[in-house]
Amino acid sequence: MRLPFFTEPLGLEGRVFPPEAASYTILRLVRSFLVKCDLEFLRGNGEPMAQVLTQTDIAGLTPRRGKVRDIYDLGEQILLVATDRLSAFDVVLPTPIPDKGVVLTQISQFWFEHFSSTVPHHLLYVVSRERVPAGLEKFADQLVGRAMVCRKAKVLPVECVVRGYLAGSGWAEYKKSQTICGIQLPEGLKQCSRLPKPIFTPTTKAEQGHDEPITIDQAGERIGQEMANRVGDLSLRLYSKAAEYARGRGVIIADTKFEWGVTAEGELILIDEVLTPDSSRFWPADAYEPGHDQPSFDKQFVRNYLEGLVEKKQWDKTPPGPVLPGEIVEQTRKRYVEAYEKITGQAFAKVGA
Ligand SMILES: Nc1ncnc2c1ncn2[C@@H]1O[C@H](COP(=O)(O)OP(=O)(O)OP(=O)(O)O)[C@@H](O)[C@H]1O
Ligand SMILES: [Mg+2]
Repeated sequence: MRLPFFTEPLGLEGRVFPPEAASYTILRLVRSFLVKCDLEFLRGNGEPMAQVLTQTDIAGLTPRRGKVRDIYDLGEQILLVATDRLSAFDVVLPTPIPDKGVVLTQISQFWFEHFSSTVPHHLLYVVSRERVPAGLEKFADQLVGRAMVCRKAKVLPVECVVRGYLAGSGWAEYKKSQTICGIQLPEGLKQCSRLPKPIFTPTTKAEQGHDEPITIDQAGERIGQEMANRVGDLSLRLYSKAAEYARGRGVIIADTKFEWGVTAEGELILIDEVLTPDSSRFWPADAYEPGHDQPSFDKQFVRNYLEGLVEKKQWDKTPPGPVLPGEIVEQTRKRYVEAYEKITGQAFAKVGA
């Protein structure tokens, strides 16, 4: 049975069911019911907890707008506000994901604290009702839970990607040449196989468009060989530490991207967001099975939906991005919240907003 008013593909557990699939209508009805329950649960005293912020607007200050963050110069410090914008394939979509920015900031804060004895980092504090930067009190609603006050740094123009598993562009390169970023790998690995040991596979940090993979020597040409080795080693150390922790919470961190910067005093510090669903691939450990794509707690769900549009020639991965259907927004939000809860062990509804 197919009901005529259901026309959008249904995303469930990382799979996309087209409207013509045999199980589509029943899955859709069950899921709509569950989503409704979930939303009801999230409503406190009649007010929806979910809040949306597409861009900040702070009178008197002009931000630099990244794909996801609005960055304000506060003099000695910077204010990094994670909005609910979602970028996929380097295109910012017109549809925000409620609470996404809060989730990203809270997860980053968790990792900064987790790593605080391992590396110096840029986070000074996350804006809360009790602590708002002087002069910005009027704008607290846009900042609480989602803005980080950070030490300012000169950003190293290399993105420090670490991979523990074979996925995404790494898998595509491996299939062609049995390498990733020029690093030779053993034969016979499958899609999503665990690598013999984690590898550092840096990329350029493009002002616009896509980051391109580079070798460690090419990273050295940009930031100096000694610095390239140093951030490579540090990134590998952080990845291993985080991966071991997350494994204990049932999450595989397949890969991630770190950014590093140098302060005015010349100190190398960890900056930007850390080990979030935007900068990493998170897979549920209990469902892990190499040989195919994995279900995930990250952006892969919305990427799969968008790939479906590309296959149907409804989008070509260039701006403007497509509007996301409500179902996809809700499922994406759920995955971000799930990532937060899995990693931190805390209920999301109790923090942030
Ligand atoms: N402590 C810091 N000092 C200066 N710049 C920083 C600091 N931390 C992060 N940044 C920069 O702030 C920007 C954050 O914006 P955003 O996350 O939207 O990034 P983006 O690079 O545009 O997109 P994407 O994350 O998808 O690559 C990045 O360019 C990052 O390098
Ligand atoms: Mg970024």
